[in-house]
Amino acid sequence: MLLRHFRESDTLELSKLVYDTFSEVYSNDFYGCFADEWPKGFIVAEERKRVVGLIVGTIEEPRVSRVLLFAVHWSLRGRGLGSRMLDRFKRASLSSGAALIRLEVREENQDGIRFYENHGFWLVGTLKDYYKDGRHGVLMQTELFKNALFSDTPGSQARPRRRGTR
Ligand SMILES: CC(C)(COP(=O)(O)OP(=O)(O)OC[C@H]1O[C@@H](n2cnc3c(N)ncnc32)[C@H](O)[C@@H]1OP(=O)(O)O)[C@@H](O)C(=O)NCCC(=O)NCCS
Repeated sequence: MLLRHFRESDTLELSKLVYDTFSEVYSNDFYGCFADEWPKGFIVAEERKRVVGLIVGTIEEPRVSRVLLFAVHWSLRGRGLGSRMLDRFKRASLSSGAALIRLEVREENQDGIRFYENHGFWLVGTLKDYYKDGRHGVLMQTELFKNALFSDTPGSQARPRRRGTR
């Protein structure tokens, strides 16, 4: 499995992955714009020349990065690919000067929330009526440290879980 940066030729396959996962359609420019803005924060997973995962991120404030989209193809979930991609995103954020990562998840996506908690994120608030269909979201964040151990580093341990507002 190869993790790499976005290429324009990925657009069609990424659009399909995003549609299959979130039932959302973004313009073709959407992907290129975010890739131009912060190439390291746009991570694509490729297997046998097929695009099977993406993280689209942005630097939102000088020391804060944000995950806008994160999906792994349904047939490959639960095998560690998402964790590898998130680790890569944490490293990209750190090397771009971020000390915090923020993201939003649908409140009903309990598997997704648990996934992030297992990777050191905690809930910082609720976003009422955040999505187009009127569903609520939750805001999560994690702090990054220069000497952080990531889950793909031998001997590393997940940070203790922290829930609730801070
Ligand atoms: C969340 C997601 C990106 C994680 O990728 P992944 O490759 O499945 O992640 P990993 O294999 O590294 O980790 C699997 C863990 O995530 C959890 N998980 C979360 N959603 C899952 C799903 N839909 N299918 C399988 N596992 C899922 C599993 O419970 C597992 O936890 P465990 O290790 O304690 O058993 C991926 O499951 C996905 O695309 N989900 C749908 C979209 C989504 O929820 N995106 C994030 C929120 S916007």
